[in-house]
Amino acid sequence: MKRILVINGVNLNFLGIREPQIYGGETLEEINRFIRSSFSSDVVELTFFQSNIEGEIVNAIQGAYQKQDGIVINAGAYTHTSLAIADALRGIGVPAVEVHLSNVFQREEYRHHSYLSPVCVAQLCGMGKYGYLYAIRFLLEGDKK
Ligand code: DQA
Repeated sequence: MKRILVINGVNLNFLGIREPQIYGGETLEEINRFIRSSFSSDVVELTFFQSNIEGEIVNAIQGAYQKQDGIVINAGAYTHTSLAIADALRGIGVPAVEVHLSNVFQREEYRHHSYLSPVCVAQLCGMGKYGYLYAIRFLLEGDKK
């Protein structure tokens, strides 16, 4: 049984309300329910965490040390700003996959740089909620080295 922590960062609690033309009409709760229903609870123990507060995300990542087998993280705008979240991921030895609902490379230039990419084993963007799904599948089945 593997344990995977799914982290959503800043403003992702407003999915369904914020810019639905970009992020879709589903709420984070609906997306998390979809993710949970896609995996057998015999195969993976999923934990969902969301915060708008950078330090709380750092705490959640530190809390995964020796407790989780993988992390899926959509840090929202902190992706493009947070050395602190990148350092937390770097420090715990748990493989992480970076996810973005939208295709950040089709968007503004300032979304093209990620502090998290160098410390994540893989990135998925532009796949909407399916990005989380494939990220989890990769952490469960893929070669993460
Ligand atoms: C996002 C992309 C970020 O640039 C943006 O700040 C977000 C959401 C995405 O899921 O597409 O808040 O991470």
